[in-house]
Amino acid sequence: PLVTTTEMFKKAYDGGYAVGAFNVNNMEIVQGITEACQEQKAPVVLQVSKGARAYANHNYLVKMVQAAVENCPEIPIALHLDHGDSFEVCKSCIDGGFTSVMIDASSKSFEENIALTKQVVEYAHAHGVVVEAELGTLAGVEDEVCVEAGNESYTRPEEVEEFVSRTGCDSLAIAIGTSHGAYKFTAAQCTRNEEGILVPPPLRFDVLEECIKRLPGFPIVLHGSSSVPQEFVKMINQYGGSMPDAIGIPEEELRKAAKLAVCKINIDSDIRLAMTATIRKYFAEHPDHFDPRQYLKPARQAVKDMVTHKLINVLGCNGKA
Ligand code: G3H
Ligand code: 13P
Ligand code: ZN
Repeated sequence: PLVTTTEMFKKAYDGGYAVGAFNVNNMEIVQGITEACQEQKAPVVLQVSKGARAYANHNYLVKMVQAAVENCPEIPIALHLDHGDSFEVCKSCIDGGFTSVMIDASSKSFEENIALTKQVVEYAHAHGVVVEAELGTLAGVEDEVCVEAGNESYTRPEEVEEFVSRTGCDSLAIAIGTSHGAYKFTAAQCTRNEEGILVPPPLRFDVLEECIKRLPGFPIVLHGSSSVPQEFVKMINQYGGSMPDAIGIPEEELRKAAKLAVCKINIDSDIRLAMTATIRKYFAEHPDHFDPRQYLKPARQAVKDMVTHKLINVLGCNGKA
């Protein structure tokens, strides 16, 4: 069924696992994710960015998610707005069938972030919709906003209680060193191992633990949590692409976060990489094929396989529906 995240997060918090929040932009992505979740009996958040609405159109996305809900009757599915940047876009999703919205006013001042978040919470709660807010900023590209690595700012744990109590938000995204996109760290921020592979700096688990102490029982969200699997990067580079030094968050760190109060882990880039790597390989091996179904089918399967791996080996939410 289509649900809010309230019960999902409560069970995830108590059970020491996290729910995957996967970005959806087209039918194959919706199908790949939800087929994996249905098979694994995993709850899931399908999230839609402003860019996704601009690309695929609000109605198409809502209707595709509704179709997935009908096809997957055994799992809870939430439909969530990712990085809403204004009251108006949040309102339009609340009025338009979403069960959860994010208001991301993290680039504004503390007081402005509180005021805008509170306004969205009041409207959302009056309509049975839950709200995710954000404190602290991530590096990387987030919709049109690009924060350079090194200019991000970690969440200040001393602010989280006041923020949550004054806004009434239902979950909180925090910045502990994850970042958006496929290039999460510059080479300068990393070390290189013996094989010359970049090793990213560790996440700030001290900041996370301090936030948890101040918000006991409260669901925390991690954005920018793709792992940028090197098998996909290699495939892309092998079949005509160029993504040097693409690097993500090690799975081990995400597993650790999922066991703590992190109840929602956002993944988009890994979906893009899985599809692009698969399609590049397909084109290289079948230069004469031109029916989109021929290459979108393995691309959809690659999304499904990647999501299945996350559910079982990273999030721990398989069997929790
Ligand atoms: O946080 C950003 C998400 O990956 C969505 O990306 O705005 O390009 O759809 P997008
Ligand atoms: P990635 O770019 O790491 O997949 O992050 C996605 C995200 O945070 C969507 O809000
Ligand atoms: Zn994000």
